[in-house]
Amino acid sequence: MASAPSMEQIEKVLDQFRDPETGRSVRQQGQVHNVQLEGDRLRLTLALTTHSRLLWEDMRRELEQLLRKEVPGLQQVEIQLAEHHRPPIRQGQVGVPAKSVIAVGSGKGGVGKSTVAAALATGLARAGSKVGLLDADVYGPSIPHLLGVNQRPAVEENRIQPILADGLKVMSMGFLVPRGEAVVWRGPMLHGALMQFLRDTQWEELDYLIIDMPPGTGDVALSLSQLLPLTGAVVVCTPQDVALIDAEKAIAMFRKVNIPLLGMVENMSYFICPECNTRHELFGHGGAQARAQELGVPFLGEVPLNVGIRIRGDSGQLAQCWEDPQLAEVFQRLCYRLVQEVAARVRQGPEPPLPQLTVL
Ligand SMILES: Nc1ncnc2c1ncn2[C@@H]1O[C@H](COP(=O)(O)OP(=O)(O)OP(=O)(O)O)[C@@H](O)[C@H]1O
Ligand SMILES: [Mg+2]
Repeated sequence: MASAPSMEQIEKVLDQFRDPETGRSVRQQGQVHNVQLEGDRLRLTLALTTHSRLLWEDMRRELEQLLRKEVPGLQQVEIQLAEHHRPPIRQGQVGVPAKSVIAVGSGKGGVGKSTVAAALATGLARAGSKVGLLDADVYGPSIPHLLGVNQRPAVEENRIQPILADGLKVMSMGFLVPRGEAVVWRGPMLHGALMQFLRDTQWEELDYLIIDMPPGTGDVALSLSQLLPLTGAVVVCTPQDVALIDAEKAIAMFRKVNIPLLGMVENMSYFICPECNTRHELFGHGGAQARAQELGVPFLGEVPLNVGIRIRGDSGQLAQCWEDPQLAEVFQRLCYRLVQEVAARVRQGPEPPLPQLTVL
């Protein structure tokens, strides 16, 4: 007969179980509370951060399975979830208080970078994470247009107050330059503007800073990589062969400036006829996914060509896409896959050392 479960066995499991945000032991970071072992019944509270909000249920399931596997006599395992607050550490020379900084880019224009960046940002915020969205497309900022905001940000004590929209903190050159006016930048000015946006914006505490990149050249990616450590990049492509070649260029560009690739998203991937509900794959199916695999980049998912996305985006109501159950499911999946990728990187590597705390 198996001996009764012991507290030592349980603590050993909790010591091994890694937090999805930091990759360090949940027990050693004070994220396990109220552990009660009565005979073969275990109850405990696992506290996780808003950074990993989309993975909370996965973590509960994973911990339960691990406990049942490693502690054979356990009959009943009850895990409550609670929130653990861990402030971000300031990142890079610009001191951005964000836990993950994610750039959304592509090799060519018009493939839906801004749309996907806004979908990811609003999705993470809806899930309960603290999210900032920085429009780094200083030449053709489109985030204000997509989210329907264009007021000028206030400046208080030399700090720019980001605009609050759809649960996000948004910053864009579009707030500063009247619509229709052109901005001409030289390389150093562009770098300076990005630095100012990152450094002087009052972001407060962020779990994610999503950066919508301009199309094409690597100037902005290079500047960003110098200003702060990026968690990684998401590359958006469309299914046509030509666009895939451009996506490969974007992947090569991010690799050159040492920005890890978190994943590829295929936008305008298929079309579902609103009349007959038939799925049409205008440019074939699976091209981007297969290419992503060949290139060693995770594939995050496909977004349909959908008139609702276009109409809502062009009327400043992109966030309304979340009211459409089909689109909500597509966007939700992208956000989940992204957060999974971010977590996999910290949880699969060697356990990182405790950071030097510069608490805000
Ligand atoms: N899945 C989609 N279905 C329908 N329309 C879409 C979709 N994705 C984007 N669009 C539309 O395509 C146009 C371009 O999208 P978006 O501005 O997001 O692209 P971009 O890659 O950021 O462009 P740029 O290179 O100019 O920054 C917009 O009108 C947008 O509404
Ligand atoms: Mg754009």
